[in-house]
Amino acid sequence: MAGHNPWPNEGNTGHIWDEDIRELDNPPPLWWMLAFYAGFVMIVFYAIYYPTIPLANGFTKGVAGWTAVKEYQESYNELKAWRKAKFADKEEALASKPLSEIMKDEDLKLYAVATSKMLFGDNCAACHGAGGMGNPNFPVLADDDWLWGGHINQIYASIANGRVGNMPARGLMGNLTDDEIEKVADYVMALSEGKGNDPSVAAGKAIFAKGMCVACHGPTGKPVAPNGAANLTDKIWRFAPVNDGSCTLMNEQTQRDAVVRTIKYGVNVKKNGHLIDCTRRAVMPSWKPRLGEKDVKRLAIYVHELGGGQ
Ligand code: HEC
Ligand code: HEC
Repeated sequence: MAGHNPWPNEGNTGHIWDEDIRELDNPPPLWWMLAFYAGFVMIVFYAIYYPTIPLANGFTKGVAGWTAVKEYQESYNELKAWRKAKFADKEEALASKPLSEIMKDEDLKLYAVATSKMLFGDNCAACHGAGGMGNPNFPVLADDDWLWGGHINQIYASIANGRVGNMPARGLMGNLTDDEIEKVADYVMALSEGKGNDPSVAAGKAIFAKGMCVACHGPTGKPVAPNGAANLTDKIWRFAPVNDGSCTLMNEQTQRDAVVRTIKYGVNVKKNGHLIDCTRRAVMPSWKPRLGEKDVKRLAIYVHELGGGQ
């Protein structure tokens, strides 16, 4: 290859491949050189205009006053204004229409659900779990087991005004003995298995009537209408065994222990204005004063659409 150059006068560099592919020594085209120099000019312009050069404590700020944070803020505000204008009529409809009408408007319903996720995460998920999946001793909102009812108006009322479940200790008259409580607990466990009529729990069944449990839980263990009392015929337990320090009188291990504790100490039972030891705490705060009517409506629709709304 070297020494033999069949094209000595065309200004090639002497590098030849595949017999006839040569590297030539031409200057770059003019347009390319101009772009190249323009690039240098741009660097100088850029370095003056934008924050560029790192210094010992900081960097050159540039004459434009540009920062990434400022740019983010501006486009965020732009987006907010755009959203506000775009969804103004939906927000207005949410505020002014009654729930019964909103529930017939698929579009508006979807909008309410989509705009509730953050609201739910910020205000409700701490107790009810992400997506309403529940936490130990806070009700699941994503199923069709309702303490206070799954109709949109009932859900709205639960959220707007809050709910306080009340169950007396030791039956409605407060007179069940420890032994009777053991027996009625057996009956409650059997109810959850669908074995409420089993002869082995007949004694407990009689105590269920004597303790007037039926007044709230219904004659079959299922409240006749939603009244805050738990349905005892399903396996959805409102109160799982916990040893969180709220009960120093007994140690709960099994679900049956948890049932005994609830029957013995009741729910939200107070003495001299204070919750008694071991009573179940079950308070749903009221949200209308905090969030306002519109956001409570929005959340009611969201909870209704989580899956269990009726
Ligand atoms: C401090 C904990 C806590 C927070 C926060 C909370 N809840 Fe509740 N919520 C409860 C408790 C406890 C109950 C059950 C009340 C009872 O046992 O009677 C409940 C009940 C409910 C019910 C009725 C459930 C049923 O089965 O009928 C709905 C609906 C509900 N909450 C929605 C919400 C929404 C929406 C938010 C957010 C705005 C929220 N909750 C925030 C504790 C909370
Ligand atoms: C005044 C109404 C009332 C009476 C009377 C009553 N309960 Fe309750 N009971 C409730 C309420 C309300 C709840 C649910 C509390 C909550 O979730 O806020 C409850 C919850 C329970 C639970 C917990 C269920 C679970 O899912 O964890 C059991 C068990 C129970 N009751 C059994 C009884 C028995 C047995 C009697 C009779 C000795 C009785 N209750 C009497 C209102 C009542």
